[in-house]
Amino acid sequence: MVRFENVGLRYRSGPEVLHDIDLSLAPGSYHFLVGPSGAGKSSLLSLLYLARRSTRGLMTMFGHDINSAPRSVFPDLRRRIGVVFQDYHLLDHLTGFDKVALSLRVAGAETAQVRGHVLQLLEWVGLGDKIDVQPPYISGGEKQRVAVARSVIGQPDLLLADEPTGNLDDAMAERLMHLFEQGTTLFIATHDTNLPQRFVHPVLRLDDGRLAAAAS
Ligand SMILES: Nc1ncnc2c1ncn2[C@@H]1O[C@H](COP(=O)(O)OP(=O)(O)O)[C@@H](O)[C@H]1O
Ligand SMILES: [Mg+2]
Repeated sequence: MVRFENVGLRYRSGPEVLHDIDLSLAPGSYHFLVGPSGAGKSSLLSLLYLARRSTRGLMTMFGHDINSAPRSVFPDLRRRIGVVFQDYHLLDHLTGFDKVALSLRVAGAETAQVRGHVLQLLEWVGLGDKIDVQPPYISGGEKQRVAVARSVIGQPDLLLADEPTGNLDDAMAERLMHLFEQGTTLFIATHDTNLPQRFVHPVLRLDDGRLAAAAS
């Protein structure tokens, strides 16, 4: 599903922030990406989300060579990817319900079906009583839960999450992990080493832009 070989990334004329990344994600696999702040976790996720192209190396996603593919194929590929951004990326004028429903509506799902599915998800993440509240009036942890519900609702082939449990207590983190672990290919960046200890999946470690399989 994803294959990176010798991938490097630099921002404009700055120093390279990712070096020689070799990464292979099989369909249905789960991985954690750990590493200190500034190691390059969000940068690596931005490549996986096709927000930018690598500055060297080979990136293959869903069978496409990303660095030679025309940008016009990106929207179709992105539709197969669910993402929870570190800073939530929520549209402030939409209620929690509308944000979660948006991708289903865009995909042409029927209204009644959308409503049932969205309500069920928001209940699961503990926001059943907040469905009509807009983001300026909900907390960081609540935004994070809306973002998680939104990322899973379209049943993406690849699910990327950047620090998805940062503002949440352990019980809620566990509920979200159950949502994530629904058979999709999962790649979760976190500097919270607690999470990989409780949910045992392979851990990749990023240090100073270099990837290694972690012993822990
Ligand atoms: N948009 C950007 N422009 C320039 N440099 C960036 C940008 N985003 C991140 N960086 C740099 O890339 C390095 C890795 O950052 P980041 O990927 O955010 O790490 P992490 O998510 O592990 O904290 C840092 O040195 C950071 O300053
Ligand atoms: Mg980050």
